Amino acid sequence: MEATTKPSAEQIERELAELLEKETFEPPAAFRETALIANDSVYDEAARDPQAWWATQAEALDWFETWDRVLDDSDAPFFKWFVGGKLNASHNCLDRHVEAGRGDKVAFHWRGEEGEERDVTYADLLRDVKRLANVLKDRGIEPGDVVGIYLPMIPEVAVAMLACARIGAPHNVVFGGFAPDAVKERMEFSEAKALITVDQARRKGKSADIKPAVDEFLDEVPSVETVIVVQNTGADVPMREGRDLFYDEAIESASEDCPAEPLDAEHPLYVLYSSGSTAKPKGILHTTGGYLTGVAWTQKYVFDLKPDEDVFWCSADVGWVTGHSYIVYGPLMNGVTSVMYEGAPDYPDKDIWWQLIERHGVTVFYTAPTAIRACMKWGVEYPQRHDLSSLRLLGTVGEPINPKAWLWYWKVIGGGRCPIVDTWWQTETGQIMISPLPGVTTAKPGSATLPLPGIDAAVLDEDGNETPADEQGLLALRRTWPGMLRTLFRDPDRYRETYFSKWDERTYFVGDAARRDADGYFWIVGRVDDVVNVSGHRLSTAEVESAIVSHPRVAEAAVIGQRDEDTGQAICAFVILEGDLEGSAELEREVREHVAQRIGKLARPKRIIWTADVPKTRSGKIMRRLLRDIAEGRELGDVTTLREPGVMKDLEGKFSEDER
Ligand code: PRX
Repeated sequence: MEATTKPSAEQIERELAELLEKETFEPPAAFRETALIANDSVYDEAARDPQAWWATQAEALDWFETWDRVLDDSDAPFFKWFVGGKLNASHNCLDRHVEAGRGDKVAFHWRGEEGEERDVTYADLLRDVKRLANVLKDRGIEPGDVVGIYLPMIPEVAVAMLACARIGAPHNVVFGGFAPDAVKERMEFSEAKALITVDQARRKGKSADIKPAVDEFLDEVPSVETVIVVQNTGADVPMREGRDLFYDEAIESASEDCPAEPLDAEHPLYVLYSSGSTAKPKGILHTTGGYLTGVAWTQKYVFDLKPDEDVFWCSADVGWVTGHSYIVYGPLMNGVTSVMYEGAPDYPDKDIWWQLIERHGVTVFYTAPTAIRACMKWGVEYPQRHDLSSLRLLGTVGEPINPKAWLWYWKVIGGGRCPIVDTWWQTETGQIMISPLPGVTTAKPGSATLPLPGIDAAVLDEDGNETPADEQGLLALRRTWPGMLRTLFRDPDRYRETYFSKWDERTYFVGDAARRDADGYFWIVGRVDDVVNVSGHRLSTAEVESAIVSHPRVAEAAVIGQRDEDTGQAICAFVILEGDLEGSAELEREVREHVAQRIGKLARPKRIIWTADVPKTRSGKIMRRLLRDIAEGRELGDVTTLREPGVMKDLEGKFSEDER
């Protein structure tokens, strides 16, 4: 065999510089040959009759009763899909594979923080889901009752979600990185009746108490009558008689007989809280039939999955929508084997991801641009330690990907053989909306390319007219799609106001700025509302401001997202202290820690700027737009409406030229 030497970092740098000249990338011929979709007729097919087309896709699921009507749009913007149909998400994810004799197939190759491994089969999941569903039922959980889930990336999180789905109890998963205060708020807002959590969570060799932290707020959330504790580290934790149960003990004695509840297509599957323009997170509500249809189709065709050949890995956390759709529901509905990884990308070393890809022969890998940029920074030596030749398709999600990171991913991870699907979507859309079809679409690094079949996306101006090519406007979705959110939990007015008041009640306002090029390709620019995207995590400036202001020494705060090479955007906070207090390094640490306590580490400001004032309109509204202009060195817009125009001069001096 010919000896191969690995290209040096310098060689790769040179090749990437050459590739930067190249603007388009065709699907590689070898990929195309076996692609599930290899020609573009699917777009026309879907466009001719989108409802009929989606109905055909819905037939890929198991329905207990078929629908009478594909779409009821008589009460727009409250759309109903597959009206009259009955099905169950956990049946579609588990029972039907087990019934077809595929129970021994591995659903998840799980890897724990400290290198532990567990292969969980479809039959294992089904058995535990039925038992946990019975435990929930015994504790009085009924269809429609919300169950909170606050768990790390362990197989039990999938069991918990599917056990809820089995009995029609919408789950409300809270990202494990959120602080207990954020969990409390989400349990209160959703009036959760039970909470499934752990004794401790592990991160990079350390353990953090979870159950004791949860106990601290549970007395104030009386709706939570049951707490189920997964013994993740086995630490001794306080348990309250009558309320708390250990997961293992409870399922051990529970019956394995638990038929999946036939649920209405519009029965709520889950609520997931996401950041909006105000400090109060939005309870995004997804229902069953449409969501599963949209997720099953996109999982299969965007990732070109062949269940008998592929091993899929989505490196997100289940606490975000990406994990709901593409770690749990999408892969399981499609009967594929996936990897689930509990830990960090750099523990025990920076090659752990690549090690896992080699170990499990991962063929399709889905991650975030921010992670790719971190890997670029760490250097090619880490991926080069491993054989990545099993990979055949790569995906990204969460934020725009800069062409350099795209090319690095293409070259260093994909070895130039793997198409990249840059997938644009949101918690609200439930399913991928704008993305290449990997066997069909010519990619352009940095563009999410084109709306998927059945999706009508457009870039509009304020009046609802399409903007000319290359001109920036507002991203809109002009036709309902099955996976869309149905409402905001117990807040239909806010739903209408947030998404359907800009143009009309059928045109969904995304909240992203975008432009289309002359080929009709979409280039997403970023958020237009007060939402910041840090490493693909969505945060509300108002939520961070309110956390900062709750520090006893802070009088006022204004938060913006500042461009950041590593994390896409970083949080920059302008802080006014009480009285004549001077800002200090010590206080800066305190304020950052305070935010971590209130929301979570991911919301800690990277930069704190002490100031005596921030720009405000005469009616007292903070003008974040001007703060963003200052931070990014843009020409300042009109400042004549400011209450104190002089404030801008002082603030300009706080940023160095380099930074801007
Ligand atoms: O601004 C867009 C950005 O992430 C936002 C949605 O965030 P979230 O609801 O947390 O869901 C993230 C994962 C689906 C969008 O409004 N975004 C997401 N994907 C992309 C993106 N921006 C550019 N390119 C993408 N591929």
